[in-house]
Amino acid sequence: MTNDDRDMTNETTNLPGAFIRHSSFVIRHSTVGEVVRWAADELSHAEVECARMTGELLVAQVLGWTRERVIAHPEGGLSPEQVDLFRTLVRRRCSGEPLQYITGEREFYGLRFKVTPSVLIPRPETEFLVGEVLRLSNNLPRTQSVCLADVGTGSGCIAIAVLHNLPGCRAWATDISAPALEVARQNAMRFAVGDRIRFVCADLLECFPERPAFDFIVSNPPYGARGNREAVQAIVRDYEPEGAVFGGPSGYEAYSRLIPQAERRLLPGAYLLLEVGFGQWEEVARMAEHEGFAVDRMVEDLQGIPRCIVARRETADQRR
Ligand SMILES: C[S@@+](CC[C@H](N)C(=O)[O-])C[C@H]1O[C@@H](n2cnc3c(N)ncnc32)[C@H](O)[C@@H]1O
Repeated sequence: MTNDDRDMTNETTNLPGAFIRHSSFVIRHSTVGEVVRWAADELSHAEVECARMTGELLVAQVLGWTRERVIAHPEGGLSPEQVDLFRTLVRRRCSGEPLQYITGEREFYGLRFKVTPSVLIPRPETEFLVGEVLRLSNNLPRTQSVCLADVGTGSGCIAIAVLHNLPGCRAWATDISAPALEVARQNAMRFAVGDRIRFVCADLLECFPERPAFDFIVSNPPYGARGNREAVQAIVRDYEPEGAVFGGPSGYEAYSRLIPQAERRLLPGAYLLLEVGFGQWEEVARMAEHEGFAVDRMVEDLQGIPRCIVARRETADQRR
């Protein structure tokens, strides 16, 4: 150990417990294992879920490593600058900021998406929408190029995951938020689908003419009820974009405008897939039926909560 390894300022406040302390100095070089243990303690104390895993992911972020490498190499070293950065990240998480905004990434449908505070953090339940589009696309004629609209695209996760898995698909993605669209554009480049997707800053589907054009219209619209703000978790309410979380006073406002717009833009026999919030599926299914859709299916998430409505636009034959 050299003198360079020691902080001679006698700093003792809020330091990683794993750091070796002496009465007059603190050794500031530290190992991966030590800082992970310290972070796990701090995060548990702040009642952060999955404290140890969070610590590992934050060290991975600082070192530019994978989490697996962090676990496999507890003897790895951090420089004083890396330790300082790590402590800042741990503090941000302890004060409530979502991990994904700190690391700037979130995995969705096996792809690692960029996320910023301008976009909703993609959720596992939204993966059901992607799975349903891929399943239903098998029913379409093989020669046909599938055309999809993703309304309220946010990070672009739905449209981009579909395009990544469906080479014959093209997509239009709309969002009312220009900063969100910028993130989505970057994700489209990241996953090399930029040549098959167009982004439009628009209110729902209003930018498209009222004529049948799409095989799929997919949306995870904002569905939180502004009138029931307090029921929404603080980590969502305080950090995620207001316009991505809350749809209006009742939470049904986006559905009531989007469903009739979609009906006028889907090809006959084409599909509308909507994610719904807890307890909303019956009312949203009723709205879709009222607009002439046949509700084919309701998909439950892993907790058994109805999450995704699959509605089909009637064909000309059915209309007669
Ligand atoms: C619940 S987030 C969904 C984001 C992303 N599709 C996902 O599943 O993670 C809703 C998105 O809709 C956008 N949005 C809200 N109102 C909109 C509107 N009137 N027209 C278009 N997009 C809207 C928000 O900016 C937000 O990005």
